[in-house]
Amino acid sequence: MNDKYHGFIRTLHWIMFVLFVIMFVFGFVMVEFEDSQPWAMFDFHKSTGVLLFGLVIIRLLARWITDVPPPAAEISATNHRISKSVIHFMYLLMVILPISGYAVSNIAGYQVSFYGLELPQIFPKNEDWESITHIIHEYGAYIFLGFIGLHLLGVITHHIKKIEILRRIT
Ligand code: HEM
Ligand code: HEM
Repeated sequence: MNDKYHGFIRTLHWIMFVLFVIMFVFGFVMVEFEDSQPWAMFDFHKSTGVLLFGLVIIRLLARWITDVPPPAAEISATNHRISKSVIHFMYLLMVILPISGYAVSNIAGYQVSFYGLELPQIFPKNEDWESITHIIHEYGAYIFLGFIGLHLLGVITHHIKKIEILRRIT
């Protein structure tokens, strides 16, 4: 039986992994050095975040129309349930983060561009909403990191128990 995710999902998993690493590095660095106005970093972070939003929609559609492989036989029902929940939360955050990032920019009065192409102002400028959208984006990023940590912990513990799950996604 085929125990691998569809090749398209496998490719997207690793492309998006690299892009998310870049997003976190740029996100934290640009905020740390905000005083020296690293606008090029902001633009790159926002453009790549919009790109990731497009990719996550495509990935969700691809997941919906392709067969998700059944869990490895050696995995207990509880572990399977946990890993499924972690994956669902990761998808939720992959959608929330780009939307909240877009909102952070628009609500503070900044436009978003996609590698130079100006995108529409979707959220109106509103000072009252600035801090809440900022909190959602910042803490959403921390929570996402936490789930990525749990995901990796799952991969490592299965590897230690000699249950090979990495081949499902490579
Ligand atoms: C796709 C997933 C995304 C991830 C993982 C991500 C991650 C991050 C992180 C880690 C920070 C630093 C948080 C802090 O310490 O304050 C940040 C800040 C920021 N992000 Fe994102 N981001 C994403 C998408 C976006 C998008 C699509 C936009 C805009 C279109 C955006 C706009 C911003 C802005 C404007 C800030 C700076 C907020 C400030 O001024 O403090 N992000 N992001
Ligand atoms: C940004 C970081 C990551 C995110 C957001 C992420 C997300 C996901 C998601 C959503 C799935 C379910 C399949 C799908 O729909 O694509 C998955 C599967 C998987 N990922 Fe990741 N992943 C990340 C990093 C990694 C890394 C670094 C590894 C390995 C060291 C890894 C190993 C796996 C494995 C083994 C599976 C298959 C799990 C199974 O169904 O048995 N992931 N990942």
